[in-house]
Amino acid sequence: MKPSNLHTQSTKVSKADREQLLNQKSQLIWFTGLSGSGKSTLAVALEKKLFDKSFKTYLLDGDNVRQGLNKDLTFDDEGRKENIRRIGEVANLMLDAGTIVLSAFISPFKADRDLIRELVGSDNFIEIFADCPIEVCEQRDVKGLYQKARSGAIKNFTGIDSPYEIPVNPDLIIKTHELSLEDSLDLLLNKILPRISKK
Ligand code: ADX
Repeated sequence: MKPSNLHTQSTKVSKADREQLLNQKSQLIWFTGLSGSGKSTLAVALEKKLFDKSFKTYLLDGDNVRQGLNKDLTFDDEGRKENIRRIGEVANLMLDAGTIVLSAFISPFKADRDLIRELVGSDNFIEIFADCPIEVCEQRDVKGLYQKARSGAIKNFTGIDSPYEIPVNPDLIIKTHELSLEDSLDLLLNKILPRISKK
């Protein structure tokens, strides 16, 4: 719903101008997957590769954003929905700034991911599914959270007592339990470089 009494301010510098200056095309590279599936590992490594190729990037990561902008939000369905909605709005501003945005959030609900795609436009959205069986994520248990979820110390944990809806038609699926990080990065770069490079 558009609030009344507000008028969009026009500016003299456009997104296209900024992309021209930065010599890149902005894109939102959206990683989704279970906790421990490797989203952040992939996003961090990809950002470094892109940065080293002189792309102007910014990484939004679940654990970080939830300690700042979204520290008031819970992990129930409503909290997760609002989390993803705000991230979408932030990412959209960054796209307008000409930035290549990488994001690593569980983003368990298809409807919320679809809203982001709609908000930024499907031409600007690259959905990457970090596909890893929950048994492997749980065995990795990097942050010790699966153990806490199993013992009941944490409620609404994704994959245990909160759902994860698998992406239906992602741009790329990375099976992080089968591929090395280097091989995963090759797949990612093949997919992404043509979409962010100026012709
Ligand atoms: S999302 O579901 O709202 O997209 P987000 O990616 O921001 O989640 O945050 C997930 C991170 O929060 C996990 O990697 C984990 O470290 C931490 N976390 C804490 N509680 C939970 C929980 N109940 N479910 C999932 N992750 C949790």
